[in-house]
Amino acid sequence: SDGAAGDGGVAGVGDIVHEGLRNLEYRGYDSAGVALVGASSGLTVAKRSGEVDNLTVPDVPDAALGVGHTRWSTHGPPTDANAHPHTDCAGDVAVVHNGIVENHEALKAELADHEFTSDTDTEVIPHLIEEELAADSEADLLDAVRGVEDRLEGSYAICAVREDDDRIVVARRGSPLVLGRDADATFVASDVTAFLEHTREVTYLEDGDVAALSADGVDIYADGERVERGVETVTWEADAAEKGGYEHYMRKEIHEQPEALRQTIAGRLDVDGGGVDLDVAFPPGFLADLEEIQIVACGTSNYAGRYAAQLFEELSGVRATVEIASEYEFGAGRSSDRTLVVAVTQSGETADTLGAVRRANAAGARTFAVTNTLGSTVTREVDDTAFIRAGPEIGVAATKTFASQVATLTMLAVAIGRERGALAAADARPVLKGLRDLPGAVQQVLDNEDAVREAASEYGDSEAFFFVGRELGVPVALEGALKLKEISYDHAEGFAAGELKHGPLALVTPDTPVLAVLTDGARADETMNNVTEAQTRGAPAIGCASAGEEYGTLDVSLPVPDVGLVEPLVANVYLQLFAYHVANDKGRSIDKPRNLAKSVTVE
Ligand code: F6R
Repeated sequence: SDGAAGDGGVAGVGDIVHEGLRNLEYRGYDSAGVALVGASSGLTVAKRSGEVDNLTVPDVPDAALGVGHTRWSTHGPPTDANAHPHTDCAGDVAVVHNGIVENHEALKAELADHEFTSDTDTEVIPHLIEEELAADSEADLLDAVRGVEDRLEGSYAICAVREDDDRIVVARRGSPLVLGRDADATFVASDVTAFLEHTREVTYLEDGDVAALSADGVDIYADGERVERGVETVTWEADAAEKGGYEHYMRKEIHEQPEALRQTIAGRLDVDGGGVDLDVAFPPGFLADLEEIQIVACGTSNYAGRYAAQLFEELSGVRATVEIASEYEFGAGRSSDRTLVVAVTQSGETADTLGAVRRANAAGARTFAVTNTLGSTVTREVDDTAFIRAGPEIGVAATKTFASQVATLTMLAVAIGRERGALAAADARPVLKGLRDLPGAVQQVLDNEDAVREAASEYGDSEAFFFVGRELGVPVALEGALKLKEISYDHAEGFAAGELKHGPLALVTPDTPVLAVLTDGARADETMNNVTEAQTRGAPAIGCASAGEEYGTLDVSLPVPDVGLVEPLVANVYLQLFAYHVANDKGRSIDKPRNLAKSVTVE
């Protein structure tokens, strides 16, 4: 979700903010709202669920400043009440926020005498500001926001306005905020695209910065002191800016994975205690009696499910099967009240997956969704949902949502294992530590993109590509091949490495590179034996190998940082980059591959 704000003595502040939201809509689009402040009109708020164009911005002729927000839900479904801005009890303060307030439950408990009107984590912020202002009659909005900052845990970018104050006060920690200046107005937004038609002179706030914007300019504070931040000139065109300067959404989304994963795990891991909190309560006794977990999903989500099935068995001690959703039937020999059916679907709208959920419900099984999309159809049809919080994904080829799905499913496996007593805290800890370190590990892979680009340019024109791995490397091999075929239109196939010798080896030639997952959780040494068999037939070999375990005989070795069971997931980032660069070198339509759609709503 994203905020946009304008501040200036110019006419049409509401229109400027509305236009800014339209410019940001590609980043989130399930609800929108604005708050406008005028000297005599006071504070006017309008918000509603739906697209930005559904929002009627009120006509406030004396408005001198305004904030707005377009939302991609993380807490609470997309309803009018959950749309931003959120206000305090008195309706004097309005706030828009990106990010997650991790301690919102605890803060809500401290604000017991305040009335809340939404399910969002954000709403605690205006109420905390209200408290700060009430506690000190000398305090102004800037003081109050500073006071509130100390009480918030998590990541945020906040814009706050108050009746009778001619400033917008903003703060950032972990979520971006950028300021802009033109001759007679000041702007702030989560992304420069919001106000690029007004100014290209921008200042990026740093973590911990608080700033007060007025029509005359901006005062920035860090640790209570006034600071100066440099001004940069944006040279991108609006279209490129939407993609954060990347040529394609897919590459942008690949690079967003560390941030997406941080959101996925935010507030959910207790590494020391060996626990996970996914905010899901199963009925008493259900997990103790659980006999089988069936995962249903399509395409990339199915591969995330295949990764997770192995973890469910290992960490929660429950038999786990994976079904292609379009093939799913609730088969004989299962007791429905002892089966949990987990639907994995980024969009929450895939017809095949919804069909499988309906069959499971009809059979009487308990159903559970893992999805990126609040308010999606699947969330209304299952018993429980865990959101992956990856943020909107626009490229048709799924990338960051795969990573966030696997991370969420891993947490679910730990949660179930712990609750069933099948997993000791000491055994959960290394898995949770791996999840905690995952964003940093993915970043290291992204920092090594040049090596993948080189490999893509050297081997991209091959006749076919084979991807291999074992255990957790198998779903990653399948996903690596799917990514490449989807966007480059090359022939690519993924196998369990041990299967190469049972048939596919007949296809191997010097013109068919083999890409291998050689990490923890993927039986690297045995996989390498199979890779060597392919090399003996002349195939070049590209391996994603645990750092420090590089295999000297590989033609290209790409190091994967040490994060235990999630290492294959980190290796997958190399395969995403490989697919991207092969396709890009061929000039393919990367974000919209031929014949494919982002959300497949037909069976
Ligand atoms: C591949 C891809 C598709 C989807 C599949 C399921 O890059 O994006 O294979 O994974 O269509 O979609 P969701 O997860 O929305 O159910």
